[in-house]
Amino acid sequence: MENINVKIEILSCVYDELNEQDKALVDLAKQATANSYSPYSHFRVGAAIRLSDDSTIIGANQENAAFGVTLCAERSAIFAAQAQQPGKAILAIAIAARTENGFTKQPISPCGSCRQVMVEIEKRYQQPLHIVLYGENAIYVIESIKNLMPLSFENLD
Ligand code: THU
Repeated sequence: MENINVKIEILSCVYDELNEQDKALVDLAKQATANSYSPYSHFRVGAAIRLSDDSTIIGANQENAAFGVTLCAERSAIFAAQAQQPGKAILAIAIAARTENGFTKQPISPCGSCRQVMVEIEKRYQQPLHIVLYGENAIYVIESIKNLMPLSFENLD
């Protein structure tokens, strides 16, 4: 028997410490919260993606009276990017969320389903995904979804 210890790495910083590219992506993710359709949770989530040619695509959570079909901001942005620009690798994603009290103090962390989709993005484009999770008091910068989803399911082909 042996213990397997999994190490993950997350950099915690504040907005001013981000590089210009990440600042711009966070700004876009915050703006994208305006496109959230969230009449049920009133939790407005925005995501912004940077592609290999430095172009950007945004997403926002889209809710439905049949709650189960709600789509998170992250997947709304990722699927839009793949549908519109399948030939361009997705290199980075920034995520922000706000309620009627303003942006969350703590960084918003993607749900398990979105993490699973991000695993496949890294596999599809053979590039690590740079992830920036925005909070008013701290921002987490993560190099690769492997840090958020160790031991993830992959098709073993
Ligand atoms: N949501 C996201 O858009 N992204 C996440 O990472 C977590 C949750 C959305 C789904 C739902 O519309 C609302 O936030 C409340 O759960």
